[in-house]
Amino acid sequence: MTNEDVKGDVPKGTKEAYEKVKYWMRRSTKWRKNCINMIASENIVSPAVKAALVSDFESRYAEGWPGKRYYQGAWMFDEIEIIGQDLVKRLFGSDFADLTPISGAVANLAALLGLTDYGDTIMSLSLANGAHITQTNIAAAGVLGLKSVYLPFDTEEMNIDEEAAKKMIVNTRPKLVIVAGSVYLFPHPVEGLREACNEVGAKMMYDGAHVAGLIAGNVFPNPLKQGCDVVTFSSHKTFPGPQGGMILYNNELDDEAKKRLKMATFPRLISNHHLHHVAGKAIAAAEMLEFGESYARQIVKNAKTLAAALYGEGIKVLGEKNGFTRSHQVLIDVREYGGGKKVVEDMERANLIASKQMLPWDDNPDNPSGIRLGTQEITRLGMKEGEMDQIGEFIKQVIDGKDPKGVKKEVEELKAGFNTVQYCFEPGEAYDYIDKILGGE
Ligand SMILES: Cc1ncc(COP(=O)(O)O)c(C=O)c1O
Repeated sequence: MTNEDVKGDVPKGTKEAYEKVKYWMRRSTKWRKNCINMIASENIVSPAVKAALVSDFESRYAEGWPGKRYYQGAWMFDEIEIIGQDLVKRLFGSDFADLTPISGAVANLAALLGLTDYGDTIMSLSLANGAHITQTNIAAAGVLGLKSVYLPFDTEEMNIDEEAAKKMIVNTRPKLVIVAGSVYLFPHPVEGLREACNEVGAKMMYDGAHVAGLIAGNVFPNPLKQGCDVVTFSSHKTFPGPQGGMILYNNELDDEAKKRLKMATFPRLISNHHLHHVAGKAIAAAEMLEFGESYARQIVKNAKTLAAALYGEGIKVLGEKNGFTRSHQVLIDVREYGGGKKVVEDMERANLIASKQMLPWDDNPDNPSGIRLGTQEITRLGMKEGEMDQIGEFIKQVIDGKDPKGVKKEVEELKAGFNTVQYCFEPGEAYDYIDKILGGE
């Protein structure tokens, strides 16, 4: 079965519908336990973060900022949000940390709302070259009436074309330049672009949704230290927290921008933030301060090993010239095997979960040339280089047309040994809540 097989059966009776929802929750969770999950934007949370997500905070309101709430009963949560802000600031070396955004997309929308005005021109990568939709006029940038101009990209280097981009920034004179993105193998030339931004008075925003955990673990450059004004990120990709977003900036940012950024989250875009997620973000930040370096190092080692294994199998892996990757991502060009859509569907039948991916020359997101793999979740479950070699072989077998059922059996056998969340204070079984919370059977 794949996404293509959804029937959309809705039981007539309310109780039956209720049971059906519980059934799918149980079944999907049990299935994911048996899968090798390599969607580059996902991760798995520690038992302590899981506890935050089912705590009483899940039911509560605390509109506003710590010490200035619009509801009673929030003072213990205030203690948590203050600790969380402090941990995140320490982790990223920032002066301000806003933990309230309820997603990376909302963090981006808030940052754009704080840093730009209707009609301004901004620059970012295009979708095919790795931007997220929120950076483009399809989503947040378009919603706010911004004009998007796209930065030039060097497909051989798989990076922003620094010299061409600098010239373009100087000629375009944008209000804001956004770097980093969803397809992101190598660090972008932030310092060079900062110089060009300085020439024209443009601000720089870094969308670290994907690589926040790698920055926190010191294996990817810290954009605040490289001169970016604002950093946004998702709290659940390489940063292994609950789903959500965050915004960081430093004292040097002008007061007007600081004021507007703060207002952008509350009260302009979010009324009540998700308290249980803030508690989870605080726990994940503490875990990253303690274990982040070894976790991030292993993520990148695993991505490099997986890329080399696939390359060794004769598969076209992007970024070859620069060692394939320096992030958690591996990109492969699968045009000769039927394209990204076919390959990820075949992989799914073998319990290998990945996403199809537009590559720089593509214009059809529904059937792009590539697939994107991420190593952050399987690393958190303890996989190392040996397992990456095995996964490379599994993918090759699927691509070569081997019956997915046979591969699935081998995938399940391998995964059975890797269901304990690590790099946290209290490592524990990732899925032991299935019977407790979702019911046995
Ligand atoms: C670069 C980038 N920015 C923003 C987002 C949006 O984040 P979220 O899914 O947390 O809303 C994504 C999502 O994948 C992303 O890749």
